[in-house]
Amino acid sequence: MAGIPHDHYEPKSSGEKWLHRRLPIVSLIYDTLMIPTPKNLNWMWIWGIVLTFCLVLQIATGVVLAMHYTPNVDMAFASIEHIMRDVNGGAMLRYVHMNGASLFFIAVYAHIFRGLYYGSYKEPREVTWIIGILIFVLMMGTAFMGYVLPWGQMSFWGATVITGLFGAIPFVGEPIQTLLLGGPAVDNATLNRFFSLHYLLPFLIVGLVAVHIWAFHTTGNNNPTGVEVRRASKEEAEKDTVPFWPYYVLKDLFALAVILAIFFAIVGFMPNYLGHPDNYIEANPLSTPAHIVPEWYFLPFYAILRAFTSDVWVVIIAEFVTGGIIDAKFFGVLAMFGAIAVMALAPWLDTSSVRSGRYRPMFKWWFWILVADFFFLMWLGAMPAEEPYATFSLIGSAYWFGYFLVILPLMGVIEKPLEQPETIEAAFAADKAKANGGAGATDATPAE
Ligand code: HEM
Repeated sequence: MAGIPHDHYEPKSSGEKWLHRRLPIVSLIYDTLMIPTPKNLNWMWIWGIVLTFCLVLQIATGVVLAMHYTPNVDMAFASIEHIMRDVNGGAMLRYVHMNGASLFFIAVYAHIFRGLYYGSYKEPREVTWIIGILIFVLMMGTAFMGYVLPWGQMSFWGATVITGLFGAIPFVGEPIQTLLLGGPAVDNATLNRFFSLHYLLPFLIVGLVAVHIWAFHTTGNNNPTGVEVRRASKEEAEKDTVPFWPYYVLKDLFALAVILAIFFAIVGFMPNYLGHPDNYIEANPLSTPAHIVPEWYFLPFYAILRAFTSDVWVVIIAEFVTGGIIDAKFFGVLAMFGAIAVMALAPWLDTSSVRSGRYRPMFKWWFWILVADFFFLMWLGAMPAEEPYATFSLIGSAYWFGYFLVILPLMGVIEKPLEQPETIEAAFAADKAKANGGAGATDATPAE
């Protein structure tokens, strides 16, 4: 697919020409900022910038926190208290970092579900999508290890449960678990390697984000209609797009300002709302908390992990067929990672020729059930592992897999999509007419 035709940077002064011949960095910045962007992007397209901001925020606050933190089991908990009480602005710094992780996940889930609704994962944006999933997995790893650092009760027991899962992998599980822990149990070696990796992974994420942005700049952005920008000529492309600067830069900054106002109100007035009180008790290997609950953003996947107990028929069959190699614990681990893997496969599982959910009447229903299912699983992940939650978790997990593995492939075949607009320009004009009171709205008026 040819790129969207647009003006490129031309060095004018002799100084600019000098630099351009040696390092075309101004040209890169210019082309990135002036990239033609579909002119009909709605508010769900702000999350990419919010995510970029979160990444920078987490690294900036994290680097300063690391100057005062001590990754040693005898001192870690106290060093956090030291940050909170003695370091100038320390409490603020810590609370921004702590709640920044939550904002990061709110943004990433909104970003992912936006992609799922508007079919942003579909051809030709599969690589953008797959890199996004890799980023998501690294984000989860980073957040998990970060949560261990304060060395509270949830840090310790969360680490024990999650690293224990690796032990469930047949044959190689135990050596992997020992490698992760740096010994037979969660201890000082674990804390040290988690600190090291928690510092490293965000920089890998930065690298992947650069590739992510490169990928969608190559294909051009998707948009709410799912109809591609016309590329036959610059004049046509200009009718479907506006330059990213100043239009979307200002729109995104406005959205970011609103979000940050809410964010800082939470940081200032209720910074521990999303945390667990047990993490203000120092880690004690001899006392297991009554409920070990991960952070809210892990709960849907945690619910899937716990859903497959040894009395579930698929687990019984798997155990029988594999001669016990796949037991309930390993099945749970497979299901949890599988829940992310099926998302990664969405570009190939979705067989519909229509990209945007706007023009897919059946898809819409299943999609919104998926969103509800996600919140249902989130709630279930926080509940104790007993009835009726166990059965509910199984139903919720089944829907998650059913959506990607059965519904998406089938719907492409049986669904009769609505008519799509011819061009972004037409959809934009129709939307505008509708907003102005319906005058001039045509048959191509989008459904919402
Ligand atoms: C640190 C995390 C991430 C950052 C900083 C980031 C950044 C961005 C930005 C700036 C955009 C363009 C604007 C927008 O669409 O909002 C974008 C688009 C996109 N992202 Fe991400 N992203 C991240 C994670 C993810 C994840 C986890 C996924 C999916 C699993 C994903 C999938 C996509 C897709 C498919 C697009 C293309 C949408 C389009 O073309 O309109 N991203 N991302």
